[in-house]
Amino acid sequence: MNYDKIVCNCMSVTSGMIKEAVEGGADTLEAVQDATGAGTVCGACLDDVERLVKEFAAGHDR
Ligand code: FES
Repeated sequence: MNYDKIVCNCMSVTSGMIKEAVEGGADTLEAVQDATGAGTVCGACLDDVERLVKEFAAGHDR
C-alpha cells in the first residue's frame, strides 16, 4: 500500500495518517474523523476513509 496516497483531498489526509490514527486508538470512522479531519469537509472520501479504517483496525495491513 502507498501510505503517501492522499485519501481525503479536502484535508490532505494520507492513508498513512489514517493508519497512524487507527493504531493510536482511533478505530472507528468517527474517531478517525476527529483525529485527522478526514471526511469532515465535502464527504466525498468517506467510503474510502471508512474502508481503510476497517482494514487497519482489523490488522490487515500489518
Ligand atoms: S475529500 Fe475528504 S472531506 Fe472532501
